[in-house]
Amino acid sequence: MLKNRYILSSLLAFSSLNADSLGSLLFHGNCTTCHYETKTVSAPSMVNIRKHYKTAFSKKDDFVKYMSKWVANPNPETSIMLQSIEKHGIMPHLGFEEEALKEIVEYIYDTDFAKSQKGHINQNPSPKRNLSNH
Ligand code: HEC
Repeated sequence: MLKNRYILSSLLAFSSLNADSLGSLLFHGNCTTCHYETKTVSAPSMVNIRKHYKTAFSKKDDFVKYMSKWVANPNPETSIMLQSIEKHGIMPHLGFEEEALKEIVEYIYDTDFAKSQKGHINQNPSPKRNLSNH
């Protein structure tokens, strides 16, 4: 996963980005290939993940610490969503840097994915076709 590492490091170099837009950029560039905002497809939706983590960790600090550690090193023993592992298999190890993960997870904590759909490129992957064209 050298490509991911490269993307994350080069984005982090843009210090003019504020924390929120950096987290958003990194999230949409690196997580939404598997995690859709509201739909569970090949991985649990972000709405679902956020709900589980908010129930387990009400404080933002704890939420960010636990989730960024987990994503850095996915492990069934520390998972709080074992049913998702049974259903989809364990999330692959992606080789993200800890600092980048914190930005991403802060964005996840702060974002109500059921409401904010803007910026997602994968939500409807197939273009709408004009079916009446015959
Ligand atoms: C290649 C696909 C893929 C990518 C990319 C991916 N995930 Fe996952 N993720 C999964 C799958 C599958 C699961 C469900 C199984 C599990 O929990 O391990 C999962 C589970 C999770 C969980 C639940 C952890 C738990 O307690 O079990 C979190 C949190 C998570 N992903 C965050 C992220 C974040 C943040 C990113 C982007 C940095 C990301 N994922 C990128 C596939 C992916």
